[in-house]
Amino acid sequence: MTNGFPSGFTWGAATASYQVEGAVSADGRGPSIWDTFAHTPGRIADGTTGDVADEHYVRFADDVRLLADLGLNAYRFSIAWPRIVPTGSGTANQAGLDFYRRLAETCLENGVTPYATLYHWDLPQPLEDAGGWLVRDTAERFRDYAAVTHDALSDVVKHWMTLNEPWCSAFLGYGNGEHAPGRTEGADALKAVHHLLLGHGLALDAIRSEGGTYGIALNPAPIHAASDSPADRDAARRIDGLRNRLFLEPLLSGQYPADVLEDTGMSEWFAAQEADLPLIGAPLDFIGVNYYCPTTVAAPDGPISSLVASTQPGSENVVAVDTGLPQTQMGWPIQATGLRDLLVTINKLAPELPLYVTENGSAYPDEVTADGTVEDDERLDYLQQHVAVCRDLAAEGFPLKGYFAWSLLDNFEWSWGYSRRFGIVYVDYATQARIVKKSGRWLQNFLTSARSGAE
Ligand code: FCB
Repeated sequence: MTNGFPSGFTWGAATASYQVEGAVSADGRGPSIWDTFAHTPGRIADGTTGDVADEHYVRFADDVRLLADLGLNAYRFSIAWPRIVPTGSGTANQAGLDFYRRLAETCLENGVTPYATLYHWDLPQPLEDAGGWLVRDTAERFRDYAAVTHDALSDVVKHWMTLNEPWCSAFLGYGNGEHAPGRTEGADALKAVHHLLLGHGLALDAIRSEGGTYGIALNPAPIHAASDSPADRDAARRIDGLRNRLFLEPLLSGQYPADVLEDTGMSEWFAAQEADLPLIGAPLDFIGVNYYCPTTVAAPDGPISSLVASTQPGSENVVAVDTGLPQTQMGWPIQATGLRDLLVTINKLAPELPLYVTENGSAYPDEVTADGTVEDDERLDYLQQHVAVCRDLAAEGFPLKGYFAWSLLDNFEWSWGYSRRFGIVYVDYATQARIVKKSGRWLQNFLTSARSGAE
């Protein structure tokens, strides 16, 4: 034990390709749905794109050294599908594979274990033009891309995640249109859920091999009812269904929650997909949990559903309630005990399954002081509270294997552009200078003193 954590505990930071890499036309990369979306006027709050982002594509070696310097021993990055298979189908682009090989090798040279996510939302645009995640073919193309990538990199990357947060891909991408591709399909967004999970299952089946570990990163959340009234409790059941059970149950028990399919009017369509469930429910080596905040919901006075463009098909009129907790700049309530509740809930569904916190972090409007430092006390407080929850769980012998801060770097925060900073390292976008924030300095001190204490 070091600082209360088991000595093999994984300490990492995470990023995602489109949010940090830039270099969107380099070395044969094809366009993704995020290029198209970000270049569509009105889609991104500050009118920016990921064209340049953190220039991680050329600065990755310095960034990995910085990560190692912080005392972290793992880097969770994502692989851009359009760098590997530029049009989404057909032959692989060797230059794309070479880039991720260099990135993984640089990690290894610095004592950092690579954790790769195969899909953090950058779907090749031609696949979206052919129907995107609403069609089955996309899942099959994802399998092909996963197989070619794993074949090329499995000697240097041992830890793989298929998808990042399929809830966001489906309900923000095809439900309320806040994310690329910006479609608003009502309950049909549930077809995206199924094809994403099918893509996960097909990819897992194609890549799983000895010597590696294979999982998925989800964004489940604790859902509370605003009151004990039957209507509020029913609202909480519905949202818990859409956010959590719709993903956890097929992955861990090989079945979809019947109540969610009924609420959304999708039972018949899902019945026709039943043959896919064994693939989706195949054993995992771990689940990654991305945790930011809990949600408290209430039922409206009128009907619960109106089947409009929505993140919550079948429960469109359910409202999120402010319970008075302090909030980050995103307006997300801060409650570290929610992380504990969530991990315990998942552990009950799959008692032996290793869990990782694959993302956790907070946005605040950081500023550089006259001394050139960034004193992000609120983010530090958030980080310490959530690390303490992990420490308590790990000390109790809970199968929590690691913690990844979101994010290593300030970056392109999707529809918020660069107006939301989540990094433990500040990025000056004008000069691309990196400044380790107070939260990053604290983590560095915490991890390096833990190590020297262990010697
Ligand atoms: C998660 C995403 C990640 C980042 C954080 C703030 O939903 O996986 O890319 O945007 O939120």
